Amino acid sequence: MSRTRLGFSLLLLAALGWSDDEHGSEDSSHPKKKGPGHGPWSYADVAQWASMFPDCGGQMQSPINIDTSSTSVSLELQPVELAGYRLDPREQLRLENNGHTVVLELPSSLTIASGYPQEYRASQLHLHWGSPEGPGSEHTVDGRRYDGELHVVYYNPSYQSIKEAMRQPGGLAVLAAFLQVGPEDNEHYQPLLEQLPEVQEKGKKTTVDGFDIKGLLPTSLSRYYRYSGSLTTPPCYQTVNWTVFNQTVLLSQKQISLLETTLQGDHEELLQNNFRPTQSLHGRKVLASFQAALSPRQAPIPDGGAPPVTPAPDGNTESPDGAPGAGAGCVPCADAEQQLGFSLRTADVLAGLFGVLFAVTALALLIYVHKQRSQNQRLSPQAQGHLHGSHHRQEPGIDAVLVPGPGL
Ligand SMILES: *[C@@H]1O[C@H](CO)[C@@H](O)[C@H](O)[C@H]1NC(C)=O
Ligand SMILES: [Zn+2]
Repeated sequence: MSRTRLGFSLLLLAALGWSDDEHGSEDSSHPKKKGPGHGPWSYADVAQWASMFPDCGGQMQSPINIDTSSTSVSLELQPVELAGYRLDPREQLRLENNGHTVVLELPSSLTIASGYPQEYRASQLHLHWGSPEGPGSEHTVDGRRYDGELHVVYYNPSYQSIKEAMRQPGGLAVLAAFLQVGPEDNEHYQPLLEQLPEVQEKGKKTTVDGFDIKGLLPTSLSRYYRYSGSLTTPPCYQTVNWTVFNQTVLLSQKQISLLETTLQGDHEELLQNNFRPTQSLHGRKVLASFQAALSPRQAPIPDGGAPPVTPAPDGNTESPDGAPGAGAGCVPCADAEQQLGFSLRTADVLAGLFGVLFAVTALALLIYVHKQRSQNQRLSPQAQGHLHGSHHRQEPGIDAVLVPGPGL
């Protein structure tokens, strides 16, 4: 789907400033301007995006692969709570094939009330999909690509408009859910899917009667991944606070197939595989709001229930081996637990080090005191010089032991 044509349609129809994906911000106000930040783009030339849209070459790009073994559990990630999603059928929502995806515009009365440090207001939602030959989600989990992906795009209302918000750090939030083939039709998706034939050609628009938008999302909004990323299409602004839900949404094979084979992009070709390859994390952290399931044998660590760790004389500070749940059965257990294990081991090593250091220091002091005493007892005018000398030779040894002490 060419951006030029989109820009044109936008201009001609005096459409809303934001009618693309999370994408949107192609400056529809200057559709003919060329150079960086402007111009058409397509999924066929993702490698060239960065030359026209510099942010696409940045270090905080989306989508990403979520490696579940390297996520960190964060207790601060509260369940996502949504407000205002049950729309009256008399409310008409605009649906458009923009050549890159199908976009449903949403009233800003739909909000994310909880799950982020601030409130966000809805702008639009759209989908990404593959083809009958393969799946087409944008994010992947442990390398697995799902059949499709729903993106609900929000903006931070402390900015004047979404166009401004999308250029500001934390200006946007996107709730993402994976679509997966299941055994039956998903009735919640019918209002949207049955209008797809109406917007078959790129640039076509129609309206959809208001329905329960929340039904498009997973039923559980408490289990999700959170990371900082970008729009997944040009101009790739790095301003999106991503939420990727762990629970998938099931649609029938028939529904997924309709999505994959109805819409057209450029040159009246089928619009398929509208997903961007996953991008490097470049050191970013992916948080998880939940702990991966523990096996029933592995009870979570109870509050204050961790045994006190005291260094034993032989330096073995491990709790008795074979204690159930101590680590033997830990293969599938969550990061938090692994991190806890790691920090306990670190504490052990430190405690051991301090113990050894203390012992050496004490020993050295003892030797010193002992020598001083015997020196005083055996003190004779001749011996003094010799002992003094030996004392001096000894001193550096004691200092060497003493000096590192305060530094640790
Ligand atoms: C959901 O979480 C489980 C446990 O970590 C993981 O195995 C699974 O791949 C996740 N699925 C998605 C879609 O995030
Ligand atoms: Zn998207």
